Amino acid sequence: MASNFLVTTAIPAPGLQLLRDAGRVTVLPEPPDYGTLAALCASGEFDVVVTQLRDVIDAPLLADARVRGVSNFAVGYNNIDVDAATRHGIMVGNTPGVLTDATADIAMLLILGTARRVVEADRLVRDGQFHGWEPELLLGRDVSGAVLGLAGFGRIARATARRALGFGMEVLFSPRPPGDRAVSDDELGEFAGKVRQVRWEELVKRSDFLSMHVPLTDQTRHLVDADVLRRMKPDAILINTARGPVVHETALVEALRTGLIAGAGLDVFEDEPRLAPGLAELPNTVLLPHVGSATVPVRNEMARLSALNAMAIAEGRMPPNAVNPLVCA
Ligand code: GLV
Repeated sequence: MASNFLVTTAIPAPGLQLLRDAGRVTVLPEPPDYGTLAALCASGEFDVVVTQLRDVIDAPLLADARVRGVSNFAVGYNNIDVDAATRHGIMVGNTPGVLTDATADIAMLLILGTARRVVEADRLVRDGQFHGWEPELLLGRDVSGAVLGLAGFGRIARATARRALGFGMEVLFSPRPPGDRAVSDDELGEFAGKVRQVRWEELVKRSDFLSMHVPLTDQTRHLVDADVLRRMKPDAILINTARGPVVHETALVEALRTGLIAGAGLDVFEDEPRLAPGLAELPNTVLLPHVGSATVPVRNEMARLSALNAMAIAEGRMPPNAVNPLVCA
């Protein structure tokens, strides 16, 4: 029998085409609210639901769901209660690997953009305030020679390290903040001798740019809170391309306002798409609408991977990228 796929938000054509070739595809006309999505998942009409980060797939929804699997159009899957899915025998797939470089590019862009005040500079030109070269117009910071602290040392952090080393930055990392874990030279591979592991407390104190590269978990929620912001250098800049709730956004606004730290470059927010009050008014920020993976080839590849995951799950096969492979074992 042909498989039935529910796609909560249209994904790029290469993925949709694969799904259409494999079965019946229902693409919702607009992102569903929680109740609508729960009812659709419980209807028994669909084998697999292809979800977005904004779709909350929690334990109550999964308890009533009559689907074989959830294929998330993202590498992160904090929107899905994976333990509950596993308990109910529901497979979860994601799209790792293909967005590493694109997201590291955005981390580097935020480092450069905050250091060189690109938003303020752009606004000044558009506002007709550029009156010619001036010796002290919009002076920024040097990136070369500055200390980049990477919170986390997974794929995207390593790709960011590679870029930062090319820009002459000194790269420190803390692999599993706030806890600790020793990374051997073997594990460091190409980075051995080029980057240095430090404890989270030291990373916070020493970074000129502190960049978040951790998944959102109970341990990393509000990893950067008022206390951490107080311990950063007053001229430090916070970069977040990971997940918004890793940073206590209200505390960040306060820290930026009072000069506890110098700036922030953010691609993710605590309660997307909303921003903490006051954040948008701060000049010392660069704010992006969660576009880490937003290039045409990367989004096409994510669409393809999420479709391949969905098709495998619908046929009872192990998906190419399974988050909870034991369900299929
Ligand atoms: C984007 O944030 C992703 O997890 O793919």
